[in-house]
Amino acid sequence: MSSSRKRGLGSLRPVLGYLLDYKLRLFGASCALLFTAAATLSVGRGLQVLIDQGFGGGTTADLRAAIEFMIIIAAAIAVGTFVRFYLVSWLGERVSADIRKAVFANLVRLNPGYFEINRSGEIMSRLTADTTLLQTIIGSSFSMALRSSLTTSGALVMMFITNLKLSLIIAVGVPLILLPILVFGRRVRTLSNASQESIASVGSYAGEVIQHIRVVQSYTREPFEVQSFNREVEQAFAIARRRIRQRSLLICAAILLLFVGMSGMLWEGGQDVISGRMSGGELGAFVFYAMMVGMGFATISEVWGDLLRAAGAADRLVELINTPSAIADPGEQRPASTGARPELRMQQVTFAYPARPQQAALRDFNLHIPAGRSLALVGRSGAGKSTVFELLLHFYDPQQGQVLLDGRDIRAMGLRQLRDNIALVPQQPALFTGDVRYNIAYGKLDASDAEIEAAARAAHAHDFISALPQGYQSHLGDQGVRLSGGQRQRIALARAILNDPKILLLDEATSALDTESEHQVQLALQELMQGRTTVIIAHRLSTILHADNIAVLDQGRVIATGTHRELLRDCELYARLARLQFREEDVSADASPAVPDAPGRAVPG
Ligand SMILES: Nc1ncnc2c1ncn2[C@@H]1O[C@H](COP(=O)(O)OP(=O)(O)O)[C@@H](O)[C@H]1O
Ligand SMILES: [Mg+2]
Repeated sequence: MSSSRKRGLGSLRPVLGYLLDYKLRLFGASCALLFTAAATLSVGRGLQVLIDQGFGGGTTADLRAAIEFMIIIAAAIAVGTFVRFYLVSWLGERVSADIRKAVFANLVRLNPGYFEINRSGEIMSRLTADTTLLQTIIGSSFSMALRSSLTTSGALVMMFITNLKLSLIIAVGVPLILLPILVFGRRVRTLSNASQESIASVGSYAGEVIQHIRVVQSYTREPFEVQSFNREVEQAFAIARRRIRQRSLLICAAILLLFVGMSGMLWEGGQDVISGRMSGGELGAFVFYAMMVGMGFATISEVWGDLLRAAGAADRLVELINTPSAIADPGEQRPASTGARPELRMQQVTFAYPARPQQAALRDFNLHIPAGRSLALVGRSGAGKSTVFELLLHFYDPQQGQVLLDGRDIRAMGLRQLRDNIALVPQQPALFTGDVRYNIAYGKLDASDAEIEAAARAAHAHDFISALPQGYQSHLGDQGVRLSGGQRQRIALARAILNDPKILLLDEATSALDTESEHQVQLALQELMQGRTTVIIAHRLSTILHADNIAVLDQGRVIATGTHRELLRDCELYARLARLQFREEDVSADASPAVPDAPGRAVPG
């Protein structure tokens, strides 16, 4: 995400593309902009009339006419400004909303590996901070810059028209005033960037502590965290102090230079008025235009930094919008459907995660799951069991070999086509913010209440859901009902059941469930596995015994396959795992005699 660091205003060009979607409003805003600029410029002329004819002419009628003229111009400026402000702010909000949507729409399509390489916090800040920055820039700074360039060039022309001699004096004087302002301005800008970054780091520091508040408090690290946080805050303050000192100096210098310049101009111009070479109104108008030029330059120099920052933000956002997924989706391919009970095969697969390209997670890996059968994967932690799932779901492409679904390479299938067949129940079930109903129906939005309840019953979840304060409407997620591990798992199972997948990928939770919910989960699993092609990462003997076949994985390879009894006899690693790892408590209750080679008690207690 840090590839391109070009920071020219050219990076704003893609934003222009988004603006052009709203041509009519853009046109309206431009008209309002031109109109108010012209009206503002005519104020100087009005001032000249007011002074020369209103005050100088002596009659009350002249004064009234001049004042009426001024009021009309003021009203025109007010209305024009209303239109301009409304349309320009609207465009800013609209475009940043569009960009936000485009970024998110691309993000959710990206392959999971992308989010391992890029920190999610950084991506989130792109989505919020960068788009907000763009919004304020388009909605205010950009239009300020446009308006100032218009009025400044207009005022410059009017200055020269009003009085050539004074204009030439100014033309020499202005650069002298601008030089120090530009120097200070640049310093302020770098400091304000640094200041913003340090504020962001204060925020993420606090965020982390709050997220892990239990660990922080259990180790009684509060005083330490407070100290570290204070250090971060003080650092941010120190940078801010340097920034405001520079800024105060900048303002001070600007005011001094401006008034020295103005005094010089008034001295020259005043002498001309006294000697009658110039009218008072002319001088008034001239001072007005000169001030407009001065203010215009000041505004432009101030928002220039904003524009550069916006260009940076636009750069990063466009990068996010254009990042392609590393997993190519060929789209819908023929034949569209797979068999009712697909067969899965992994053939000579070698795969290393992008984050660790040197170390293969799977090596020359072969696996076959016949149609409608179930296979249990067992092995030590880190053996590569979960990686098998990642590849079956085509979250990654293997470096070598193939993953086949009914004999077809899954790379040649549309992602949707593949994944519509599969339901994954992960080790840590994911619950989304929303009610129970929403969470169960996550994979099938149009499910009826009856279907949802049936799925919940099949997952042995209906009873505990009904006992929740609001039943199926109970809120889950961040500020919602807290569910136990076993309950979460059964919600995830209900989600899978509702989806009625042809292929089931189950990653059994290792954390100890209480005997009761373990039994419930076990029953639900058996029902779910009926007649589906199932791969299950198993940690419990009861689950293993229910699988048609068992594959033992070690260091990214299948080292043995067979039934429980065969493996106990032939595979040393399996025998050891069985002795040490597979939980036994529920076997007596669950190891049904229907499993032919289930020994009454596999492991001496
Ligand atoms: N996203 C990842 N990036 C890099 N390495 C990974 C990633 N996920 C797993 N690994 C590594 O791949 C190997 C296999 O992991 P995994 O399939 O999760 O093991 P298991 O599920 O059998 O415990 C391990 O060495 C693990 O450290
Ligand atoms: Mg795992």
